[in-house]
Amino acid sequence: MYLSYFGFKEHPFNVTPDPKFLYFGEAYQDALAYLVYGIRMRKGFVVLTGEIGIGKTTVINALLERLDDSHRVAHLVHSNMSLKDMLRFIFRDYGLEAAGKSKSELLLDLQVFLTALDQRGGNAVLIIDEAQNLRSWQLEEIRLLSNIETAKNKLIQIVLVGQPELLHLINATELRQFKQRISLHFHLKALNRDETENYIDYRVKMTGYQGKKIFEDGALDEIYHFTEGIPRLINALCDKALIKACISNQRKVDKKLIRQVI
Ligand SMILES: Nc1ncnc2c1ncn2[C@@H]1O[C@H](COP(=O)(O)OP(=O)(O)OP(=O)(O)O)[C@@H](O)[C@H]1O
Ligand SMILES: [Mg+2]
Repeated sequence: MYLSYFGFKEHPFNVTPDPKFLYFGEAYQDALAYLVYGIRMRKGFVVLTGEIGIGKTTVINALLERLDDSHRVAHLVHSNMSLKDMLRFIFRDYGLEAAGKSKSELLLDLQVFLTALDQRGGNAVLIIDEAQNLRSWQLEEIRLLSNIETAKNKLIQIVLVGQPELLHLINATELRQFKQRISLHFHLKALNRDETENYIDYRVKMTGYQGKKIFEDGALDEIYHFTEGIPRLINALCDKALIKACISNQRKVDKKLIRQVI
């Protein structure tokens, strides 16, 4: 409703993962660099953690765009799957035929595929998002997948992505063996006050807006205070603030307005 009021071509604070609105501050660049490094160096396991709504899935989407054609990527969002079901999804993403095969046949086929890919200079990646919901037995099965290796190389690079509970899960004593295999862990931190401002400015600019600064400093302080620099919360709050500004025929968002919509 406020698009024409402010002269935006698009909604600045949509929560859809539109790459155009990707704000690549330092933490995001570092997270992406870690993941790319872990995959390129064939580290086996890489873990990305961060609070709810901080941008983990956003980083993964950027990673998918960054990996070149030598990579074959399977991308799962965790649900309560058995290893066999997981393998079916992995086969689908790698373009392999899974129908009618038993779990051990699937594992064997996967090994053949991964070995051939490695020999051609390729690299296989398995990304599991929402991994904080995995049960320990599922993590254990995933660990078994990482056993597929040659004397030199891990044949599949597994990226586990999840909320901080994922680390607790991995730290649980029965998963010690698993923990030893994790060579890289990156924790995505929330934006600081200045980054929150840059994030908001960036998203507003991406709508084609060229007018005066909409969010006043006091409003930005308040937004940062309330959202603690979590992008999903920033989006929701800024969206509400712009609606309210439009209704009250106010071109600027000040501290008072933010307090009204919190
Ligand atoms: N770097 C970023 N640039 C632009 N927008 C971002 C960025 N990070 C997060 N967002 C915004 O915040 C929303 C939430 O991000 P995302 O879904 O990646 O979080 P998440 O950490 O995966 O959350 P969850 O723990 O719920 O899975 C995104 O839809 C996007 O609108
Ligand atoms: Mg996510």
